[in-house]
Amino acid sequence: MLAVVPPPVTVRVPSKINLHLSVGDLRPDGFHDLTTVFHALSLTDEVTVALAEEPGVEVYGEGEQVVPTGGANLAWRAVEALAAHVGRTDGPANVRVVLRKGIPVAGGMAGGSADAAGTLVALASLWKLDIGRDELAEIAAKLGSDVPFALYGGTALGTGRGEQLVPVLSRHTFHWVLAFDQRGLSTPRVFTELDRLRETGNPPRVGSHAPVVEALASGDPRQLALLLGNDLQAAAVSLRPGLRRTLRAGVNAGALAGTVSGSGPTCAFLCADAESALEVAAELAGAGVCRTVRVAHGPVPGARLVGGDEHR
Ligand code: C5P
Repeated sequence: MLAVVPPPVTVRVPSKINLHLSVGDLRPDGFHDLTTVFHALSLTDEVTVALAEEPGVEVYGEGEQVVPTGGANLAWRAVEALAAHVGRTDGPANVRVVLRKGIPVAGGMAGGSADAAGTLVALASLWKLDIGRDELAEIAAKLGSDVPFALYGGTALGTGRGEQLVPVLSRHTFHWVLAFDQRGLSTPRVFTELDRLRETGNPPRVGSHAPVVEALASGDPRQLALLLGNDLQAAAVSLRPGLRRTLRAGVNAGALAGTVSGSGPTCAFLCADAESALEVAAELAGAGVCRTVRVAHGPVPGARLVGGDEHR
């Protein structure tokens, strides 16, 4: 009798920006306590998983030359983690993961985390597992601080190291322009730089997240623009001084406000509406301050099966 081979499964998974990112003290485990407002954007990666004779990861698109294809890839670690969780000891041996990347690599937009989250959802479907999103989120949190948010998407308040999430009401679609830098920035390096800046001086600290949450509920981009803030921005700018010019150029091009996304170096510019975002993007692309410009909107849902009903 012929074994029935299940068809490949594809999942689309969003990037994130941080509308508010307050960094607390360095913890004994090497992480920092955070309070952050995550916001999922329509700039996405696609993850396809299939049974194959040769296991591994293939990468196409943004950063395809620099993303590891072996065991160091976070998507592959997601395959191993899910296999271990459900006791499929031979699980990884026949899985192939294809990543089609739109999210910049090491850009502060949680692209690697997105790939891991997408892999968990795709593989749960391929293996027909009876496993809910909350159970997947527990595995996700062990893979990285931003992986659970990529599962849920939307807009959410993140605490702990960013993995503890509560949804935030957001009535409006916000329009963004993203400026990708020539090279990525290492997240641990940016956190270490912030620790250094705090030892030697007094870099700005964002206040409470509460006004951001109120602005999201009101849906007014002008109100939200006044409140965007990121404690990591000073550290990212210290390591990559050219970001100052990029941030200025976005606002000069007509954005309401700009912020470094997460640990950077991608800059996110909030615009009044979709039309304004296109105008800002065109002008920023000609300003010579970044490698590539994209428009995106948010919030969007988390990791979702493409072309079919979700497994769960
Ligand atoms: O969790 P993730 O693997 O994305 O974190 C990458 C690195 O970023 C950590 O090893 C740590 O250096 C830094 N980090 C941190 N505090 C957080 C999240 C990340 O210091 N809350």
